[in-house]
Amino acid sequence: MPIYEVKTSSPEETMSLAEQLGHLLKAQDVLILEGDLGAGKTTFTKGIAKGLGVKRVVNSPTFNIIKEYNGRLPLYHMDVYRLGESEEDLGFDDYFYGEGVTVVEWAHLIQSYLPSAVLKVNLFHGGNEDRKIVLEPVGERYIRLCEELLSNESISN
Ligand SMILES: Nc1ncnc2c1ncn2[C@@H]1O[C@H](COP(=O)(O)OP(=O)(O)OP(=O)(O)O)[C@@H](O)[C@H]1O
Ligand SMILES: [Mg+2]
Repeated sequence: MPIYEVKTSSPEETMSLAEQLGHLLKAQDVLILEGDLGAGKTTFTKGIAKGLGVKRVVNSPTFNIIKEYNGRLPLYHMDVYRLGESEEDLGFDDYFYGEGVTVVEWAHLIQSYLPSAVLKVNLFHGGNEDRKIVLEPVGERYIRLCEELLSNESISN
């Protein structure tokens, strides 16, 4: 599978990239976000939400684990950090195969519940506000999605 790298140098740039991705998403798309604390997973999710037309402010769902927002499509935002190694099933399939788009932070903690096709988004800290964002599509749908996203000239590499 191909991988795609994008560099951003501010939270706004990360949000704008994610917003453009949000415009292209459809029901049952699943995005898994990986990266250290503060790498920008929730910031990226805020951009996705904007692209989906969500009006409410998206915050880290750490204390709820799953939060749902209404937009053009529903957005299911999960942060499974608190599940730790317990591998507890919170009815994930209802979200993954539901009406909306799912974004999962710390997704490797629920590896066994994830669909086989997903878009992996890995965020890495650079200096200051620099981030490297590596898109790793698994499955044809997500390869096409990345191609479409990055064919947009306004995204610099
Ligand atoms: N280029 C950038 N992209 C994204 N966030 C950035 C960037 N530069 C600085 N930041 C800042 O880094 C922080 C990222 O926090 P965020 O909550 O998005 O990270 P996270 O990966 O979700 O962390 P956690 O693991 O705690 O959930 C924010 O304060 C954001 O403003
Ligand atoms: Mg977060």
